[in-house]
Amino acid sequence: MIKVVVNGALGKMGRQVVEAITSTTDLYLDKEMDAHNDLNAYLKDNKVDVVVDFTHPEVRMSTIRAILNNGACAVVGTTGFTPEDLMEVDELVKKNGVGAIIAPNFAIGSILQMHFAKLAAKYFDTAEIIEYHHNQKADSPSGTAIKTAELMIEAAPDKKFNQELGDKVENLAGCRGGQMNGIRIHSVRLPGMIAHQEVIFGEKGQYLTLRHDAISRESYMPGVLLAIREVLKRKDLVYGLEHILGI
Ligand SMILES: NC(=O)c1ccc[n+]([C@@H]2O[C@H](COP(=O)([O-])OP(=O)(O)OC[C@H]3O[C@@H](n4cnc5c(N)ncnc54)[C@H](O)[C@@H]3O)[C@@H](O)[C@H]2O)c1
Repeated sequence: MIKVVVNGALGKMGRQVVEAITSTTDLYLDKEMDAHNDLNAYLKDNKVDVVVDFTHPEVRMSTIRAILNNGACAVVGTTGFTPEDLMEVDELVKKNGVGAIIAPNFAIGSILQMHFAKLAAKYFDTAEIIEYHHNQKADSPSGTAIKTAELMIEAAPDKKFNQELGDKVENLAGCRGGQMNGIRIHSVRLPGMIAHQEVIFGEKGQYLTLRHDAISRESYMPGVLLAIREVLKRKDLVYGLEHILGI
């Protein structure tokens, strides 16, 4: 049995992770921890295989230092890691001989959508991204929309998308969305939405739509469980779920 601690267990993601782990037969939920617990002290006294962390960006580094320096592997969904942070984590995994998987997005369907968009970008010259989220979301466009456009641009670096459009007159400012290298990005914010994204490619006589809908936090759990099982085989830092999906 793989012995797992969930840090941030009282949070929205943490509660879901606890439920997902207890529904398996190969993972053992050793302890649920949250802000009132001392993770470092617990890990000093108890041998744990993997700590899953969904807490707060402010404590991302103190938490991962405590995990790795006590010889446990880390599966981290907490956001906010900078390139400098990742360099430090890379040193910590090497120093301690353990694995770490940090993923800004654990939803496998969303990762696959980005991968497919990257493949299609080579073959289509027009593309629009429409992302839909609940109206409490602070930022627009979503990080996933930006990442999707970046991957499409990376796949076709010499291409400027949407050159052949006839939309020279914009009677209402912003109605054609934002753009990255010509790729139009539209952000819809409505109560009742969760996290949805369409990437639409067009060519003469055909269009291709890639759509992903996350309708609950359960969508992240297959990715989290995969990472828990995978991280034990690693002695390095993996940043991004796509690197363990074999794509
Ligand atoms: N990678 C992904 O796929 C993904 C998906 C959703 C959310 N997130 C990220 O995960 C994090 C948590 O999201 P959430 O929606 O569950 O938030 P949340 O606010 O519902 O839960 C966070 C929990 O962490 C606890 N916490 C705060 N500081 C702590 C500390 N020092 N030690 C232990 N516990 C502590 C809080 O008490 C709370 O229970 C955020 O950074 C969010 O952006 C990532």
